Amino acid sequence: MEPHGNTIVELGVNIDHVATLREARKGAAPDVIAAAKICELAGAHQITVHLRQDRRHIQDRDVELLSQVLTTRLNLEMAAVDEIIAIAHRIKPDSVCLVPENRAEITTEGGLDVAGQKSRLAEVVQSFHEAGVKVSMFIDPEPRQVEASAEVRADYVELHTGAYANVDGGGLMHELNRLVQSAARAINSGLIFNAGHGLTVHNLPPIASIAGLNEVNIGHSIVARAVFIGLENAVREILHVLHAARV
Ligand code: PXP
Repeated sequence: MEPHGNTIVELGVNIDHVATLREARKGAAPDVIAAAKICELAGAHQITVHLRQDRRHIQDRDVELLSQVLTTRLNLEMAAVDEIIAIAHRIKPDSVCLVPENRAEITTEGGLDVAGQKSRLAEVVQSFHEAGVKVSMFIDPEPRQVEASAEVRADYVELHTGAYANVDGGGLMHELNRLVQSAARAINSGLIFNAGHGLTVHNLPPIASIAGLNEVNIGHSIVARAVFIGLENAVREILHVLHAARV
């Protein structure tokens, strides 16, 4: 891989799992808004939340409050369904990341099939652009999904790093290579390239070193580390790994 100088890669912290813990008791703790502010104070560049149709973690009120109190950016992950699109249009986050959603899944499993629904997604993208909201497509690192994302005029692609994060031994270079190739294709098509899913302090460096990377979105591993070292330290730790990989 090419060296990259010290270009800053931004960190979006996904705080869904703070809400998962809160929803385990349907109470007020832990406070999702306080968590977001701690992430910002620790240096996160963006807060990401996924307002799922089943509302299993983040609730509408969380998104509403976050849009009022964040001093960085709010990125709303969402399925491209009418109910959530209407909420996003009302709240106007800085960006939306369109993801597939399946009620039975434990977490977002695969990338969005942009190629299979281009005309509908082009309309959704246009409606968000008219509202001043940037749009990201969460896609598998496949050429046709990158091309389709450019065709529907998305601003960003977030390449799904789940297959890379979960691979055993021999397939690692293959998965990394798919990400590198798709990143280059995205940049050549005029898209901004982000990455996310399953990233940890251990597997982040090769991803952070991919040329042209703009931002990573990391959730579960930060919240899991926070149980032991605190949220502020967990964010600082991942920022340190992210930046060390770029110098
Ligand atoms: N990016 C997207 C689009 C996601 O759906 C998720 C999971 O909610 C993440 C990033 C963060 O993944 P993880 O929680 O595994 O870090």
